[in-house]
Amino acid sequence: MIQFEDVTKTYKNGVRALTHININIDEGEFVYLIGPTGSGKSTFIKLINREEKATSGRVIVNGKDVAKIRNSRVPYFRRKVGVVFQNYRLLPRKTVAENVAFALEVIDTPKRHIDAKVKHVLKLVGLSDKAGDYPRLLSGGEQQRVAIARAIVNSPAVLIADEPTGNLDPDTSHEIITLLEEINRKEGTTVVVVTHDKEMVQTHVNRTIYLDAGDMISDSLTGGYKK
Ligand SMILES: Nc1ncnc2c1ncn2[C@@H]1O[C@H](COP(=O)(O)OP(=O)(O)O)[C@@H](O)[C@H]1O
Ligand SMILES: [Mg+2]
Repeated sequence: MIQFEDVTKTYKNGVRALTHININIDEGEFVYLIGPTGSGKSTFIKLINREEKATSGRVIVNGKDVAKIRNSRVPYFRRKVGVVFQNYRLLPRKTVAENVAFALEVIDTPKRHIDAKVKHVLKLVGLSDKAGDYPRLLSGGEQQRVAIARAIVNSPAVLIADEPTGNLDPDTSHEIITLLEEINRKEGTTVVVVTHDKEMVQTHVNRTIYLDAGDMISDSLTGGYKK
């Protein structure tokens, strides 16, 4: 589903964010990407959804070499790659349902399909009763659920969450990871969770890839990591 083949990313200012990374993530996997601040986690995500291009090596997502996707095709490609951003990026003047629907409207989904899909994902994330509320009325955990609903409403093959529990208390973090695991199981979505929450990685055991200063330090199927 996601392959990094000898990927190096150097930004224009000369910072090398990732160095010779080789990773293969299969369809239906649930994977943590863990590492300290500045280790290259967000860069890894940006390479997957074509926000950035690799300086060398290849990134293959859903069978496509992402660097070769024409700019005009990028919005279509991104339908298949749902991203939950670090800071939810919800639209403040739209309701919960409208925030989720917006992700469909921008790609011309027929009106009659929109309501059914929005209903389905809001139920999946446990927010059916908040559909008409505005984001500012919601708790941090609820806002994160909206962001997740928005990311999965196009039925993406891959769901990527960048520090989805970064601003949440431990109980809420636990609920969010449980939700992501449910989406992985119920919908068959490949899930990549970026985190620096070592406790989460130990309590919810999943494959764990550890980055440090742009290098892949370990890749463990049973969770845990070595530094
Ligand atoms: N757009 C950018 N331009 C220049 N340097 C960047 C850019 N984005 C990230 N970096 C640098 O690349 C390194 C990795 O950053 P990042 O991928 O955001 O790490 P993480 O998400 O693990 O904190 C850091 O040194 C960061 O300062
Ligand atoms: Mg980051």
